[in-house]
Amino acid sequence: MFSSLLAASLLSVVLSASAFPEYRSLAGLSAAEVRAVARTFQATPGAQPVPPPINDTSSKLVFDDAHPFQPDAPGDIRGPCPGLNTLASHGYINRSGVVTPGEIITAVQEGFNMGWDLATFVTYGAFVVDGNHLTNLMSIGQKTTETGPDAPAPAIIGGLNTHGAFEGDASTTRDDFALGSNFLFNETLFDQLSQAAIDFGSNGTLDIPSAAVHRHNRILDSIARNPNFTFVTPRYLTAYAETTFPLAFFVTNQTSDTSLTLGLDVARSFFQTHKFPDNFYRRNGSYGLAEVGDLVVEVFEPFPVLPGNNEGVGNYVVDPEDPGLVGDGTCYAYYRQSNLTVALYPDPTDELRAAIAQNLANFYSGLGDPTCEQVFPFGQ
Ligand code: HEM
Repeated sequence: MFSSLLAASLLSVVLSASAFPEYRSLAGLSAAEVRAVARTFQATPGAQPVPPPINDTSSKLVFDDAHPFQPDAPGDIRGPCPGLNTLASHGYINRSGVVTPGEIITAVQEGFNMGWDLATFVTYGAFVVDGNHLTNLMSIGQKTTETGPDAPAPAIIGGLNTHGAFEGDASTTRDDFALGSNFLFNETLFDQLSQAAIDFGSNGTLDIPSAAVHRHNRILDSIARNPNFTFVTPRYLTAYAETTFPLAFFVTNQTSDTSLTLGLDVARSFFQTHKFPDNFYRRNGSYGLAEVGDLVVEVFEPFPVLPGNNEGVGNYVVDPEDPGLVGDGTCYAYYRQSNLTVALYPDPTDELRAAIAQNLANFYSGLGDPTCEQVFPFGQ
């Protein structure tokens, strides 16, 4: 009796939010609520096939006439990822910040020459937990202020800003969720990145050794100040990968071995303004899972920190189960993210179940590793 009343009142809360945003995750809603909100959606295409790899991965001008920079308009959503924010500000993905996973996968290839495997693995790794499986939409950041009251936990309302699903701690220029804004540009942190480049980089520009110093400093800072600091796979892997991304993607005409270094003004243009510098050329050759795998080792080795979490400020406890960068971390990331998806959707409707199953298969396809056994928690 009590629980049905609760469900009814929750349903009315959800529906009284006049429109349940089409990009809002359906995690945490009961089957009845999912059916009710699905009726308000314009279209429910469900999961879609992953778009193909691009054929031509040579360098090219990407700040071109077809992709002018436009500052955010009121209501446009931006989030913690400077890469996606920039692609939105140049119209490679919808400028609103509400996008499909397929749009992201095509855009990160076109605009930055991210490899198809990495693009697919990262995009679906995020989408399975932060996206809306029925509408096939996701927000690259926060919810807008017009979307009404938040649904109770474990509902996911914030797109990529949602802490602990895909977004995580010890970010390059964004604060830990427990300490400040986990998605807005933070000048103090950018200054620390700049200082690492000045002290340890290449003639005042950022290179991999100085980026590694900043990565380590960010981990030490989180250990020292964030009682909830969590640094396990998949966040552990994305943190190291994201440390290589400014070098791999933000340097104009970057060589295929990622050896050119990054000027701090250019870095700021991406991290803060979400803008390609004038005359910006994407890198030569794609940067996928193999390339990121090689470079994260160079970030990790000078200051090896194993996966773990804080149990109180200053008390970092290593997780012995987590292979991190030493074992088969990407396969483990796939299992972790699949398990989280199961926890978010304990009782999906048939339509939702089919869409999640397909999106998990899309996620797995990015891995391209037959030694990592595929799982089917939502059926095949
Ligand atoms: C493929 C789809 C992508 C998704 C879904 C994605 C998502 C995200 C998310 C959720 C974060 C926040 C993680 C955190 O710090 O807690 C992030 C950070 C970051 N992303 Fe992306 N990203 C993608 C592609 C890219 C690309 C193509 C680039 C570069 C061109 C990029 C560059 C970065 C950087 C540098 C950060 C660290 C930001 C900071 O901590 O200051 N990402 N991304």
